[in-house]
Amino acid sequence: MKAQRDRWTNRPAFVMAAIGSAVGLGNVWRFPFVTYQNGGGAFLIPYLVALITAGIPLMILEFGLGQMMQGAAPLSFSKIHKRWEWVGWWAMLVGFVITTYYTVVMAWCWNYLYYSLSLAWKSGAKDFFFNDFLGLTDGPAKLGGIRWPIVFGLFITWVSIVWIIHYGIKRVGRVVMVTVPLPVILLAILVFRGMTLPGAIEGIRFYLTPDFSRLLDPKAWLAAYSQIFFSLSLGFGILIAYASYLPEKSDINNNAFITSFANCGTSYFAGFAVFSVLGYLAQATGVSVKDVVAGGPGLAFITYPTAIGLLPFLPALFGVIFFIALLTLGIDSAFSIVEAVVAGLRDKWGMTQRKATIVFSSAAFIVGLFFTTGAGLYWLDIVDHFMNNFGLALVGLAECLIIGYGFGTERFRRYINSISEIKIGRWWDFLIKVVTPLILAVSTILVITEEIRRPYAGYPQWALILGGWVLAGLLILISRFVLMRVKGKEG
Ligand code: PHE
Repeated sequence: MKAQRDRWTNRPAFVMAAIGSAVGLGNVWRFPFVTYQNGGGAFLIPYLVALITAGIPLMILEFGLGQMMQGAAPLSFSKIHKRWEWVGWWAMLVGFVITTYYTVVMAWCWNYLYYSLSLAWKSGAKDFFFNDFLGLTDGPAKLGGIRWPIVFGLFITWVSIVWIIHYGIKRVGRVVMVTVPLPVILLAILVFRGMTLPGAIEGIRFYLTPDFSRLLDPKAWLAAYSQIFFSLSLGFGILIAYASYLPEKSDINNNAFITSFANCGTSYFAGFAVFSVLGYLAQATGVSVKDVVAGGPGLAFITYPTAIGLLPFLPALFGVIFFIALLTLGIDSAFSIVEAVVAGLRDKWGMTQRKATIVFSSAAFIVGLFFTTGAGLYWLDIVDHFMNNFGLALVGLAECLIIGYGFGTERFRRYINSISEIKIGRWWDFLIKVVTPLILAVSTILVITEEIRRPYAGYPQWALILGGWVLAGLLILISRFVLMRVKGKEG
């Protein structure tokens, strides 16, 4: 006797929530930078190829699996065969680790929202970020103290997440009606502001001038695939969990297309907000655009704030708009992972939504404190690098193999076609069984060899082993040998 599974109020609620998970910080600070680095306008070719050969097929897979099995990742995989349950737990653990630091980045955003009011970074954004704000130590070995303002931001972030999801998926459906469109409107304001500044065109030229020779470099292709994965929130079990709240008759295929294109369109658009302002910054400071481009935290907390500080009027207002945009972009991605894990805990042990949310969130908050120390940025960078490079692609690979050979693509496709508006053909089987796993396997091997040849970003070897290899390996071992063996409520 099962309690009725919680349901989305309607189809737009589900689609918006999926888009909310996909559209996140990565669209603003990762996509434009990766594009610029890998051939500008020419990068759109590998990017679209990656979207079509891996992004959309896997999204269809995750949506279809969750809807069919009516469970989060562990339950869904164990319904295919008991021995695959651990793959779901593995996805959850990767999700757990990612939330612990993703929420810390959001904590920085809360602080910067406040600093925007007085443009507190004005005397030098770089120095302000590293020294005054993070209190960055000399290296990962020296933790330094906990930074209380960051802890405070982290606390607000977690309270918001708990408030949104502890009540169930219906509230999520309502919240995303604000947190998805709002940042897009704010981005539009920033694009308009950016494009009307002197130097903007120079910035856009940097972003989009195609360099087709870059397409011969396998790194550009690898970058396209990993960006697609990270950006569409694939490989965390998030979309499986979200789709498990879909009722019996629900479109799968069309929703996957809508979600994917909405996400990639937002990324492309965000590039204009970022690069127009970088063009302005370059002109205002008399350097070339090449010398101001940055990706990752550097863009959001150093370069963009610097440019905002130079705006001719109302700089504080644009600072506030930028950080609210980041917070609303990030929050629905953050709570989507939490929801995925909470759904997994609930499925397995029959915990209530409220209890599972509170237990999980408190644990993630406590672990996250580690990233609020003076060495937090180093560890965040290392853990992020490894989780994204190994966690996601490997889970994706496992998904393809389990559905492709364990369950059977033919059977899977027939089922989802029977409930979807758009029918997918045999091409999907071929992608899931051959193309996507091959690409994921090859890219993982390339990444691993590269990693061994050239240790990431010059961090000390022991830190990479601990925060990277050991952690990544541990997650696999825990899910395979511990979580899977623990008895669930079914006994
Ligand atoms: N899709 C998110 C982004 O682009 C990344 C993300 C994935 C964040 C999964 C949280 C969970 O920012």
